[in-house]
Amino acid sequence: MKLRIATFVLLIALAIGSCKDGDEPVGFQLTPVNLLIPAHFPLMDVPEWNTPSLERIELGRRLYYDERLARGMGLEGMSCSGCHQQETSFSSGQRTAVLPHLNLGWATFFLWNGAKEGTLEDVMEFELRDFFEADLDVLKGDPGYVSGFANAFEDGGVNYGNAAQALAQFVRSMISANSKFDKFLQGELELSAEEQRGYEIFNSERGDCFHCHALPLMTDNSFHNIGLVDKFKDHLGRYTVTGRTADVGAFKTPTLRNVEVTAPYMHDDRFATLEEVIEHYNTGVLQSPTLDPIMTKAGKETGLHLSETDKGDLIAFLKTLTDTTFLTRKALQKP
Ligand code: HEC
Ligand code: HEC
Repeated sequence: MKLRIATFVLLIALAIGSCKDGDEPVGFQLTPVNLLIPAHFPLMDVPEWNTPSLERIELGRRLYYDERLARGMGLEGMSCSGCHQQETSFSSGQRTAVLPHLNLGWATFFLWNGAKEGTLEDVMEFELRDFFEADLDVLKGDPGYVSGFANAFEDGGVNYGNAAQALAQFVRSMISANSKFDKFLQGELELSAEEQRGYEIFNSERGDCFHCHALPLMTDNSFHNIGLVDKFKDHLGRYTVTGRTADVGAFKTPTLRNVEVTAPYMHDDRFATLEEVIEHYNTGVLQSPTLDPIMTKAGKETGLHLSETDKGDLIAFLKTLTDTTFLTRKALQKP
């Protein structure tokens, strides 16, 4: 059973009335639990057994930034935030292929090959238990945590299950929906001529981007082979999970929100700039049996025939997806 969070949000917003976080604009519904869901976004499903609470989100935030948890190989001294850094939309400019954290409350598949499927609670338990091999005993000697768990959970247990629920709530609160493009979608402002032309390429058969980077989340939460390689040995992607031949070379469609700050790009960090990414779609797509049909015209020819101006316009549009309030939101910083 799932809770329709937007209904919940509305009720609470009516009860509370005003915005708590000073750096967020009016017009957003801010709940006492910091879930900001604007009207142009879909409803978010939240497991009924992990109803959002400020105590759980705050506990999740502490865990996210805690450097004492990790015991896994080469991870000592690392926190989640060691690789997932706010200024790069909780991805990393230094480490390989770190997926950003934003709007994951709407995702049901996680990791580039979708190896983790289910709720954020499931994936957080995996991150803590299997990836971090987290040592929760270090928390038991910390009075702040003991009271944190006691305030957040009836049983007060300092265990993987509760820690995963708290982390899931924090990550669910990482909602980015306040870019220039969002304001445009809400009718609050116009795009520049350049951005508007880029949007038209993006959102029409000319660029075909919208099929996979679907509005408003800018991802279809699915998997595609976009022709980056034609030898798949190290790029099997979704196939390693499903074993289906059709999934060879297919990777999760990343959201394009905040893409201006998430370089390098793709599952193997192969592109350093947005210019290189656009050039891939324009002239670099490699044919293979599992290439997504959207990447070809009439089933054969690849490439988009974009002019220099078109490419500049497309990049100008992608930059309208940057949400600086998200990249600086205090509620997401180290407590
Ligand atoms: C050493 C760097 C590193 C650390 C530390 C780290 N991650 Fe990640 N994270 C990654 C990388 C790399 C990926 C993409 C891996 C893949 O898809 O195979 C990723 C992916 C994810 C995803 C999937 C996102 C998506 O869009 O599918 C989630 C969720 C996540 N990490 C949560 C966490 C949490 C929670 C922690 C702390 C407990 C954490 N990570 C710590 C590097 C890291
Ligand atoms: C068939 C689906 C599909 C279409 C069409 C598509 N993309 Fe993508 N896009 C993806 C997938 C999947 C990835 C990740 C691929 C990988 O790493 O193997 C991606 C990656 C990207 C990235 C890198 C993001 C990151 O964080 O690494 C950018 C930027 C991007 N696409 C922009 C565009 C633009 C602009 C267009 C239109 C010209 C477009 N895409 C069309 C599916 C698609």
